[in-house]
Amino acid sequence: MVSDDAAAKPLGTVKGNISFENVSFHYGKTGGVIEDLNLHIKPGEKIGLVGRSGAGKSTVINLLLRFYDCADGRILIDGQDIAMVTQDSLRANIGVVTHGYLATASLGAREHPYTTAPMRLR
Ligand SMILES: Nc1ncnc2c1ncn2[C@@H]1O[C@H](COP(=O)(O)OP(=O)(O)OP(=O)(O)O)[C@@H](O)[C@H]1O
Ligand SMILES: [Mg+2]
Repeated sequence: MVSDDAAAKPLGTVKGNISFENVSFHYGKTGGVIEDLNLHIKPGEKIGLVGRSGAGKSTVINLLLRFYDCADGRILIDGQDIAMVTQDSLRANIGVVTHGYLATASLGAREHPYTTAPMRLR
């Protein structure tokens, strides 16, 4: 369970720049999940994360939603470190739909509030 930093501010209106900078994360273990990931996604850009089951695709989304803190590195949205914004404002800006092997996240999707339960598309 992550908590808001005492100095956390709401994430303002976002353009949608997402940067993973040297991000590592292993669910508390010593290694083997996300290792030194660098990724920049521009506003409006659509990307696909492709990999075998267990490669870490969902973990990337979990980190963007800050369900876990990075063990190393940081994630920025429009230059703001997500560890320094309130979790409510972060998640209000991210829409997630999961279904089987489909997982997408988009920024600025206020009309699709984040839902903790996987949503069936059909
Ligand atoms: N809550 C957790 N605690 C500990 N380890 C976890 C947890 N969730 C995932 N893992 C491990 O982290 C690794 C990455 O898992 P992740 O769910 O991100 O893979 P994925 O690429 O989304 O796989 P899939 O295609 O099956 O959805 C796997 O080795 C998995 O066992
Ligand atoms: Mg997954």
